[in-house]
Amino acid sequence: MAAAANHHLLLLFSLSLLSLSTAPPPPSETQSLLKLKLSLNNSDKNLASWIPNVSPCSGTWIGVICFNNVITGLHLSDLGLSGTIDVDAISEIRGLRTLSFVNNSFSGPIPQFHKLGTVKSLLLTQNNFSGPIPPDFFSHLSSLKKIWFSNNKFSGDIPVSLTELDLLKELHLEGNQFSGQLPNLRQDIKSFDVSNNKLEGPIPEGLSKFSAASFSGNGGLCGKPLEKQCVASSSSEYSLPDNVTENDSGSDLPLKLIMILIVAVIAAVIFMLVKSRQRKRDDDFSVRDSSVEEVMQVHVPINRSSSASERVGRRNVGESAKRGGMGGGTRNGLGDLVMVNDEKGSFGLQDLMKAAAEVLGNGGLGSAYKAAMANGMSVVVKRMREMNKIGKDVFDAEMRQFGRIRHANILTPLAYHYRREEKLFVTEYMPKGSLLYVLHGDRGSSHAELTWPIRLKIAKGIARGLSFLYNEFCTYDLPHGNLKSSNVLINDEYEPLLSDYAFQPLINPSIAVQSMFAYKTPDYVQNQKLTQKADVYCLGIILLELVTGKFPSQYHTNGKGGTDVVQWVLTAISDRRETELIDPELQKNASNSMNNMLQLLLIGAACTESNPEQRVHMKEAIRRIEDIQL
Ligand SMILES: *[C@@H]1O[C@H](CO)[C@@H](O)[C@H](O)[C@H]1NC(C)=O
Ligand SMILES: *[C@@H]1O[C@H](CO)[C@@H](O)[C@H](O)[C@H]1NC(C)=O
Ligand SMILES: *[C@@H]1O[C@H](CO)[C@@H](O)[C@H](O)[C@H]1NC(C)=O
Ligand SMILES: *[C@@H]1O[C@H](CO)[C@@H](O)[C@H](O)[C@H]1NC(C)=O
Repeated sequence: MAAAANHHLLLLFSLSLLSLSTAPPPPSETQSLLKLKLSLNNSDKNLASWIPNVSPCSGTWIGVICFNNVITGLHLSDLGLSGTIDVDAISEIRGLRTLSFVNNSFSGPIPQFHKLGTVKSLLLTQNNFSGPIPPDFFSHLSSLKKIWFSNNKFSGDIPVSLTELDLLKELHLEGNQFSGQLPNLRQDIKSFDVSNNKLEGPIPEGLSKFSAASFSGNGGLCGKPLEKQCVASSSSEYSLPDNVTENDSGSDLPLKLIMILIVAVIAAVIFMLVKSRQRKRDDDFSVRDSSVEEVMQVHVPINRSSSASERVGRRNVGESAKRGGMGGGTRNGLGDLVMVNDEKGSFGLQDLMKAAAEVLGNGGLGSAYKAAMANGMSVVVKRMREMNKIGKDVFDAEMRQFGRIRHANILTPLAYHYRREEKLFVTEYMPKGSLLYVLHGDRGSSHAELTWPIRLKIAKGIARGLSFLYNEFCTYDLPHGNLKSSNVLINDEYEPLLSDYAFQPLINPSIAVQSMFAYKTPDYVQNQKLTQKADVYCLGIILLELVTGKFPSQYHTNGKGGTDVVQWVLTAISDRRETELIDPELQKNASNSMNNMLQLLLIGAACTESNPEQRVHMKEAIRRIEDIQL
């Protein structure tokens, strides 16, 4: 399992390798798509954007997914299409990896998709396809990872060639009329559903890990996980006649057992060796695959994916995040790493590519990974999407300015990597994690080590960091803009370091609204106005979080869960019950500091005053925090 947590970071960079090809798709592929269009009914209306003389990768062709001008997917969902799909035309698109016709009106036998040897996802959910699928249909589709054929009218046996798809991860056949027995699928399938068909017979062992719901609505299925047991006789047909077994087992039972055990152990070892080699190959394969698909999700010009393909998409991101593989070169300068701060040492893209990576989490702005490099240094790599508000040169200047910051309470980035689609930010890794994690994480004891002196130190450190940012970025509307406990990292000495500051000028406005915490304040939610007072509000939440030890409901985007610390504190103060708010954990060893804790609480309350006009200024808040005694 330890190995499973460690992966290479290539997935982050395999994208840069792909950026080498930038020529538009060959005209023949444009012709192929137009041929496909001709074969479909209703395409005049719903594929009206498919027109000659405009490149399919221009972003205007509905449902055409490109990556660096290579057509990689056709997501033709929800378009009311019917007719006879021209598979030969599709097969001329060399880079095609995903083909989706989810929720259209296609009917009749399954098209000859078996000619599309490189396709990795084939999504036909919710159509009227019918009839049997030939047993060998999948024999030449060895790249397939995702098969969604649910809610059609397919009948006959489930094709046995499914057992040959080594990479298969998702198999959805629910809501058809498949009959007969389930093939013996032994692949490592992650998502599986054959409910509501007419299947019968025993559920193969490799599939019994899925829930009963995956098999429901098939009267004839039996065995785990269903309650219905298979009748023993059906399988004893194949076992040896009793008298033979008896004869054999008469002599030397222990010796035989030992022999069998030895053989089994050797077989297991060989099996695992082969398997691990295989897995390595698979990983390399799917790294490229998943990252391409992930990028495709980003590039969908008009998002009309059905629920089925959305589910697929989400899985994808998680999956690609978990996977890794070996690296490749990026020496042509296209995708190099720019060091902006080499105080902790220098490294390049190659070092990161070879690092063991671990997913830390997904935030509003992107996902974060820990990368442990061979030189012993660990860094955090954040992939940021939607940071295209400014051009590359300005971006570079901005990053270099960040890189020059030296302050005990500011996390200075180490390096960045620029591509149009996404940016990578590399920062130092802090083993303790964020304040959010230290306060509410699952490590049990860690909360208790947050004594009053430590919490006060953290509050003061945050105040000092903010004081610095308010000088350095004083002209910004939001010198921080995304202040919350998950963006306060805690170093080994419990010194807090602010991260993700001063991003607002970099981020596309729509994403900023969705993901920066300043936009969740009443200032923006009620009045669509943001001033530096929004940072004050965010600071207030952290102070209340520190003193009460509660998880603020404000951090949940849906407002569910956690404590509305602002309201709670407001009510308690007006009822003169303030002392009840203080984290019992804090009171244990510092009961004579109660008044000082209350002071910090009151500053938090003043910072979260809902009317920005009446809210304290940042300077004043900082001064008051600095004045608090132990
Ligand atoms: C299926 O597509 C039609 C448009 O052709 C759309 O109105 C409908 O909402 C879609 N159904 C689902 C479940 O997405
Ligand atoms: C497609 O359109 C043609 C002509 O309008 C019609 O004859 C045919 O039945 C349609 N096919 C389907 C599957 O709707
Ligand atoms: C499938 O065909 C039936 C009639 O056979 C029709 O009622 C239904 O609307 C069709 N479904 C789709 C998704 O086209
Ligand atoms: C085993 O039993 C079967 C039927 O019960 C019989 O036909 C067969 O001859 C027996 N074999 C031996 C080796 O006794």
